[in-house]
Amino acid sequence: MTSATFHHLIAGKTVASPATFETRNPSQHTDLIGRFSDATLDQVRVACDAARAAFTQWRSTPAPVRGQIIGQIGRAIEREKEPLSRLMSREMGKTLKEARGDVQEAIDTCHFFQSEGRRLYGQTVPSEMRNKELSTYRRPLGVVGVITAGNFPVAVPSWKLIPALLTGNTIVWKPSEDAPATAYALARLFEEGGLPDGVLNVVFGGGAGAAGEFLVEMLDERRLDKIAFTGSTAVGRHIGAIAGRNLTHPSLELGGKNPMIVMRDADLDNAVAGALWAAFGTAGQRCTSLGNLILDAPIAAAFRDRFLAAVAEIKIGDPGRFDDVLYGPFINERFYHHWLAHYEWGRTDGATLAYGHGRITAEQRPAGFRGDPTSGLFGWPTVWVDVEPGMRIFQTEVFGPTVNLVTVDGIDEALVVANSVDYGLSSAIYTQNRMWAYQFKDTIQAGMSSINNSTTGAEAHMPFGGIKGSGNGARESGIWVLDNYTYWHGVNDELSGKLQLAQMDTEYGQARTPYHVAPLADPR
Ligand code: UN1
Repeated sequence: MTSATFHHLIAGKTVASPATFETRNPSQHTDLIGRFSDATLDQVRVACDAARAAFTQWRSTPAPVRGQIIGQIGRAIEREKEPLSRLMSREMGKTLKEARGDVQEAIDTCHFFQSEGRRLYGQTVPSEMRNKELSTYRRPLGVVGVITAGNFPVAVPSWKLIPALLTGNTIVWKPSEDAPATAYALARLFEEGGLPDGVLNVVFGGGAGAAGEFLVEMLDERRLDKIAFTGSTAVGRHIGAIAGRNLTHPSLELGGKNPMIVMRDADLDNAVAGALWAAFGTAGQRCTSLGNLILDAPIAAAFRDRFLAAVAEIKIGDPGRFDDVLYGPFINERFYHHWLAHYEWGRTDGATLAYGHGRITAEQRPAGFRGDPTSGLFGWPTVWVDVEPGMRIFQTEVFGPTVNLVTVDGIDEALVVANSVDYGLSSAIYTQNRMWAYQFKDTIQAGMSSINNSTTGAEAHMPFGGIKGSGNGARESGIWVLDNYTYWHGVNDELSGKLQLAQMDTEYGQARTPYHVAPLADPR
């Protein structure tokens, strides 16, 4: 792709803004990927109105036909999987292997929802009166605003766009300003699949004071019927308040400080591999990344030694030039600064820094660093020990390559510690003990849990989402997401030709004479 200028996609047309912003390869800042129109408030309004105008036709398009279009979108994405993955890796810095996984998750989601168009079941329900039928229908909400983050630029939008479209909604999507080129390409593939003009509109721009905030304001203008957001807990709370005062139910997928417990009987090699990937994969920029590694006292020292040895071996660098790196750069400067600040929190908290030196520089680079550290913002893998619940680094999501080691004694303490954060997205335990695994499954406060696996790696047909500060209970993916893009419509069909009133004209059965059980005579 050359560094061309890309514009919004509204009602099937490209619409330019007076201002633009640019996107650069975070591994190579000299590599300009493209310029993008920066939406004005009025353009966002026009996009919502275009979606509103397209809604009547789209909601009445038979669901199996909408499903067939979703299938075509899936095949278009599958055909372009390789170039789309390469573009994503170049634009936001995740490894190619991960980018392929990200795109595959969207393909899988299309496959899942293609046939959902032939189900989308309602119920038939018996009436309490004769000659009357009851039934339920899923109805689309209307115009949905979608705001997504840059760390999963294809998978996470697809979890929202695909089920929302399948159920008959129309959309205005504001993708992350960190991955607009990937979003643009994805939107074009959606269009290719057969979406009529105006069904999916895309506006580009930032969040605060820009397209993202403008889109949220559309709730107050009654131009949106729903907002779906993936991002930070702080922004999620703000959006949730606006959605709430408009009596709409938002989908909020927010932060995490995900725990992993390693018990005394765990397979330590397997646990080290799981922890390393969970903490440092995607440079820790996943909402499912590992935050607090909770070690059972008898293996704490042995685990720490093996873990630190593995951390010292991590390969880091530009994933576009080196295909063996575990992780690449920070997606943006904001994430880098937030991560850098956590070094200060850790020191103030009194935790011990066991590994890590902030930004990777020419003078101070880990042995596994490849290439030129000044071409982007790369972070040292960072490990804190002597961490305790209550410390800021224990409680707060950092969103970068860092992990805390906490020692506990036994499963009961491990679970208390694991649950003592104000997030509840993902979680993991390593143990061979079925009872401990059961206790974990039963007690952990999280929307997702792994037993003997990483905190990451949710499959496309499982419910994704969290509790506490990680979201508002809405779930993405699988059949569960359908409830977030539809409302239930209950219908009663009176066939008797007369006014029959429920509860009042119902012919309740009358109980008959009471029968009392007499004691039986003793047979002896
Ligand atoms: C995210 O971290 O924002 O479970 C999404 C996973 C991926 C999706 C993560 N399938 O790690």
